[in-house]
Amino acid sequence: MELLAVTFTKIAEPLIKTPIFSSIFTILAVVAGVLCYFYGPYWSVRKVPGPPAMPVVGHLPLLAKYGPDVFSILAKRYGPIFRFHMGRQPLVIVADPELCREVGIKKFKYISNRSIPSPIAASPLHQKGLFFTRDARWSTMRNTILSLYQPSHLAKLVPTMQEFIESATENLDSKELTFSDLSLKLATDVIGQAAFGVDFNLSKPKSHNKSNNNNKHEDDHVQQFINQHIYSTTQLKMDLSGSISIILGLIIPFLQEPFRQILKRIPGTMDWKFDRTNRNLSSRLDEIVRSRMKENHHGSKDFLSLILSARESQKAAKNVFTSDYISAVTYEHLLAGSATTSFTLSCIVYLVALHLDVEKKVVDEIDAFGPHDQMPTAHDLQHKFPYLDQVIKEAMRFYTVSPLVARETSAQVNIGGYVLPKGTWVWLALGVLAKDPKNFPEPEKFRPERFDPNGEEEKRRHPYANIPFGIGPRACIGQKFSLQEIKLSMIHLYRKYIFRHSPQMENPLELEYGIVLNFRHGVKLQAIKRA
Ligand code: HEM
Repeated sequence: MELLAVTFTKIAEPLIKTPIFSSIFTILAVVAGVLCYFYGPYWSVRKVPGPPAMPVVGHLPLLAKYGPDVFSILAKRYGPIFRFHMGRQPLVIVADPELCREVGIKKFKYISNRSIPSPIAASPLHQKGLFFTRDARWSTMRNTILSLYQPSHLAKLVPTMQEFIESATENLDSKELTFSDLSLKLATDVIGQAAFGVDFNLSKPKSHNKSNNNNKHEDDHVQQFINQHIYSTTQLKMDLSGSISIILGLIIPFLQEPFRQILKRIPGTMDWKFDRTNRNLSSRLDEIVRSRMKENHHGSKDFLSLILSARESQKAAKNVFTSDYISAVTYEHLLAGSATTSFTLSCIVYLVALHLDVEKKVVDEIDAFGPHDQMPTAHDLQHKFPYLDQVIKEAMRFYTVSPLVARETSAQVNIGGYVLPKGTWVWLALGVLAKDPKNFPEPEKFRPERFDPNGEEEKRRHPYANIPFGIGPRACIGQKFSLQEIKLSMIHLYRKYIFRHSPQMENPLELEYGIVLNFRHGVKLQAIKRA
């Protein structure tokens, strides 16, 4: 062998030294480097089935063609675990309830972090929240935050939620309205109060805003903040319609950060706008956090004050919750709590307006609860509206706001018979599970009764077939909060109104695919006052 190598070197050395051969060697080395860069990630998961991927863009053209439905189409063809190439990055998609249990619960210790998709990698503001923090920092943060979500604390939020809902929906009579806009303002107001202790004043009818010049200035400030928040969130696209640095992140990740650094300095580019917005948002958040740190926050019940108090009393929380992490996690509440909750509420009202038999049952249950001025308690909300529970579950199944949940392996692990190396992106396809006819016969029919706890369908179903809030120790922390808000909103709305689709409402509903689902044109309805 040694003899062979020596002979080869003797023959090749003079050739390598000639200019033509040295150029060929350089080109070959570059080609090999490029191939390794693009095919390296694929190689590690090549045994997992999946469609052939195009060089560089992977399966992104399929995503552009079919939208989020692409994952159901691929699951039908390739089975419950398959590969999808988000540009260069392969994802191992898990689309089966039992495999989701394996990833989310049984093997959680090997898959406890989230992968950071390219849109988030371009946004440092979004990275320091609970969603994307990792390992020990995540568990300390999560434990501190969980202690703030005691049922007793949630119960105390009912009157605040009710107050916002009442004023937002006071005057809808006979109006054509873009319900999804109203519900986004409402959800942002509710979470703004619960997270920051600040009334953003977005959802109240204008007659309530007794603006003099001083608070008009303040209103503009808040409006700007919220516009920036909405801009920053909606720019986080998962396809090829984001900023240049986000697109590069999907295709050639190592170029994302250098390009972001350059483009954010060139006025007019999306990266420049995005960076400016995020810097403005961060500095406003830092301002709120700093001033709250100086004030006496004891006794206040908003999320920010509770974190600040926890920070003073717990050593671990003090180390983890530095002021930038406090800003991020508080902002994350605004982000995670507004778009998801308002999307879900809008979908429920949209679907109920299409199914008059369901509407009648919902209205009857709400009327039977008691006089219309009787505010339900947190306990009532959990136990006295069983049909409304079914309607909410079915609407969340029908339109799964978060169709994919991102996780990443922190060690080699076997999932569904495939050995996945450390660093593999494993994503749970909640949207595919929700439309699987094995667990949901006639999945394209909106039928809340399929969730009747006494019905055969519910008893037969796999316990993790419908998991819109995710699964295991990393599941959504705001589940109870948002269900409380959605139920209160539904009860209040249907005590006063029923809804019909506006003539401007497209059919079927068109959706946009960002970090979470969103409406392309909004949910346009007509509110009709009940007799
Ligand atoms: C209808 C409303 C909502 C839906 C459908 C929803 C859905 C989800 C999903 C699917 C996840 C990922 C779970 C997983 O990895 O298994 C998640 C995580 C999370 N959600 Fe929600 N969410 C909603 C409302 C909220 C609200 C109101 C808040 C805050 C008040 C919130 C805060 C969070 C946070 C902080 C995480 C990250 C948890 C972690 O990584 O430890 N969500 N949510």
